[in-house]
This record gives sequence, C-alpha cells and structure tokens, in this order.
Amino acid sequence: MATTAASLSSDAISFLSQADAIAVDQELMGSVLGFSVDQLMELAGLSAACSLAAEYPPEAPGGLLRRVLVLAGPGNNGGDGLVAARHLHHFGYDVKVCYPKPTDKPLYNGLVKQISSLGIPLVAWHDLTAAGPLSAQADVVVDALFGFSFSGQPRPPFDDIIRALLPGASPPPIVSVDIPSGWHVEQGDSGAPPGACLQPDMLVSLTAPKMCAKYFKGAHHYLGGRFVPPAVRDRFQLILPPYPGTAMCVRIGGTAADSNKAAAAAAAQAKVADMRISYERGGLQEADFAGRDPLQLFDEWFKAAVTGKVCEEPNAISLASTNTEGRPSVRVVLLKGYDQRGFVFYTNYASRKGDDLANGHAAFSIYWEKLQRQVRVEGVVEKVPEEESTEYFHSRPRGSQIGAWVSSQSQPCRDREELEARNLELQQRFSDASQPVPKPPHWGGYLIRPTSIEFWQGRPSRLHDRIRFRRAAPSDSEAWVMERLQP
Ligand SMILES: Cc1cc2nc3c(=O)[nH]c(=O)nc-3n(C[C@H](O)[C@H](O)[C@H](O)COP(=O)(O)O)c2cc1C
Repeated sequence: MATTAASLSSDAISFLSQADAIAVDQELMGSVLGFSVDQLMELAGLSAACSLAAEYPPEAPGGLLRRVLVLAGPGNNGGDGLVAARHLHHFGYDVKVCYPKPTDKPLYNGLVKQISSLGIPLVAWHDLTAAGPLSAQADVVVDALFGFSFSGQPRPPFDDIIRALLPGASPPPIVSVDIPSGWHVEQGDSGAPPGACLQPDMLVSLTAPKMCAKYFKGAHHYLGGRFVPPAVRDRFQLILPPYPGTAMCVRIGGTAADSNKAAAAAAAQAKVADMRISYERGGLQEADFAGRDPLQLFDEWFKAAVTGKVCEEPNAISLASTNTEGRPSVRVVLLKGYDQRGFVFYTNYASRKGDDLANGHAAFSIYWEKLQRQVRVEGVVEKVPEEESTEYFHSRPRGSQIGAWVSSQSQPCRDREELEARNLELQQRFSDASQPVPKPPHWGGYLIRPTSIEFWQGRPSRLHDRIRFRRAAPSDSEAWVMERLQP
C-alpha cells in the first residue's frame, strides 16, 4: 500500500513505491477499468504541459517565446514527453524535441508524426551538443527520459544527456516528468554523492507521487493525471489533493505565491560577492579569426545574438565618452546600424555625450549574456551625413520624432509635468499627420569608425578568450593586426 506523508503540504499525500506504481498502472489498464496506454500517455503529457505552463508561461520576460527542449527517452516516459511537446506547441511555446532512440511501435510512430506535422524540430543529441551548452539553446528542459519502471545504468547517449543535466553543467530549469531521470524510484538521490544526480526545478508527479518525490528539493512540485477512479484510489488507499476547477494539474506543497516569496527571501539573502557563474559556452580559436575582417565577424556575432534571442534588445550598447577634463561617463544607447564604415547610433547632439564626443573619440561594449560574449569597440567618432540622419529620423514612430523636439536631452527639468506640457504643445504643433515632422537640427547619428574591435568569450576559471583586432587609423588602407589578449 502507498505510504502517506504530510511533509509536502498541510494535507497528507500518498507516495507510491515502485511496485505500487506498476500495480496502479496495471489496474487502470485492466479489464475492469479499461484504460489504454495511449489514453494514459495523452493525459500524462497534457498534465506535464499544463504544469510547466503554470510556472513557466509561454511568453518569457521580454516578450520572447519560451524555448522548451523536450528530451524523450525510449519508454512510456518518453511518450509522455512527446505528447507534452505537442501540447506545449499548441500552448504557444517554441518547442524542440530530442528523441534519440525512437520506439518502432504504432503509438510512438504516431506521436512522432504528430509532432513532425506541427513543424516541431526533432534534433539529434550530437547536433545539440555541437551547437553549445543547453542553456544557450533552451529556456526550459523537459526531462522525459526515464520513468518509474527504469532501473540500471543509462546507455549512450542517455548517459551523456543526463551528464548535461547535472547541476555542474548549469543546465536551464529542468521539468522532470514523474521521476527525475537517474533517480532511484524510492530512494531518490539520497544514495548518490552531491552533484551526481539531476536536480530538477520542477517535478510533475503522475497519478500519485512516487516515493522519490520526498527527496525533491526544487521549487515546484505538481501532480497531474486527473483520472484516478475511486476503485484505484480505494484499493491503494491513495490520498491525493483535489484539483482546482477544471485544471489538469495541482501544485503540491505551497502556492506559486509561496514559492515566489521563498525566491524573494533567497534573493534578499543572496550575497553579491557570491554571485558568479562558470562560463562554458565555447571558446575562440585564432584560426577562426585570422585574416578575417572584424566588421564581418561582428556581423556574425550580432546575428548569432539575434537568432539566439539573447535578450530583447541585443543592440543595446554601453557607450563611453570623456569630457574635456578627461572624465569618463557611460550610458546605454541603441546601435542602429553597422557597415564597413563602422557603428551608428542616434542621439541629441546637444546632450552631455554630444558635448563629449566633440573630442572625436568614443568606445562601447556590448554583452550578450546567453552567449557569454562581449564585443568591445574603440574608435574615432563623427556625425553621420545629414541625409542619413534625416532618413532614419523619418523611419521612427511619429511620437518618437516629436519626442526629439520635446527633450533638451541631459538638461535639468523642473518636473515631469513640464515635460508632459511641452510634449502636448509639440503634439499640437505637429498634429497634421499628413505633414512630416522635420528632424531637429540638434538630433542625428554618430558613426564610430573603429580602430579596435575585441571579441571576448567567457571560459571556465576566468581564463577567458580575447581576440583583438587593432589598426593605427580607421582607414581601409590600414591593415588590422590580430592578437590574443590575456584574460
Ligand atoms: C536600452 C536603452 C536604450 C537607449 N537608447 C538610446 C539611444 O539610442 N539614444 C539616446 O540618445 N539615448 C538612449 N538611451 C538613453 C541614454 O542611456 C541616456 O540616458 C541619454 O542618452 C542621455 O545621456 P547623456 O546625458 O550622457 O548624453 C537609452 C537607454 C537605454 C537604457
């Protein structure tokens, strides 16, 4: 019979041994209750998808679609993952599936056809690993590798996949379906040395939690599988929490608000000095840079940042300038173009930076955290031709065009009302939408012609890779000198 415990919530909950978990499934699929394996798999996958959605909504902060990588194993747990992938796609996630050892049975072949027909990519494990660490490729990983009937040592490539999910590999948040893969169904990770077992952030127990769930320390424990008939509940003396409303899943142990509170408490205690990560997303080889045009390389890195959805504004640069006394200041501006000449951004020529840039020098850095890459640029700066600024000015939303007239950037202002009043006045002045808003003479672009471009890739133990291109003057006739810098 199932054991019960009250440790996960105020209500007692049952935990199933491996033998009971197998017996519950047999009972459900027996001649009396008549469930089929594909029905149970459908409900399991749907529950897993709903649970994931409850904590990791389809839209990630910044409005990007959350990227979910489903790792599907060879058995029923893998089937649950394939079903979850289909539902997650319909929920609006950007889903990829890695299903290294497909099971050649009609049920599984059908699931693969369904996800393929939705355009969900099926990716090979070696292609995933070749493309870099999982954290650069997915925002959430669904661990649907092994279920409660698995025992023994995982075979290749599953051993390698599990290694990539260990805490030391800094994987993205992991949602384990029913059992964290590699855990003992009853003893969980309790017999393993620290760091040797996967530590999911979320566990979705199916039908009833298995005994290993007592060892789960992640933030979110959910129960799914809202189909347990009284015959099974009574026979196994299952005590399960009620499902709210029409939900396919129920949170076990605290509410989402509780977990947010716990996260906030942990954040409050976190020491800035202890915040560090290991940079493990790749390295730079001189051979890949030698003889190359650094502006072309910048283009490749920039496109990788855009396609990798590293952040909402991968074109935000930290622009440094110095005043006449040599005092530096720095602010974020948006890079609005780059070409063989260099890098372009737009601003108010009469601003503080505008004053500084009159000395003809500028530098900026840009950091793409998800790729653990930084680019640093130094160069000489000049205003872009007036026609170029005018053309770009008119490509901006009309409100921003008027805003350029409203703000005397960097000057003190009495209060917000003063700004709003001036905005209103200028909105009225330019209220005829058939007439273009003229570009203010004090507004336009700057072009930084680079004399130095450094490509930086974070590496473990602070032994980062730095490859710098430099030239004496920003002219095409000056050759670039490439050199590796110490980190
Ligand atoms: C994400 C982001 C993008 C920005 N983009 C620009 C920009 O393209 N041009 C600009 O003048 N200011 C931009 N700003 C505002 C600047 O950081 C800064 O406040 C402003 O240019 C005044 O700087 P200054 O007083 O040093 O001249 C941006 C700020 C942020 C946070």
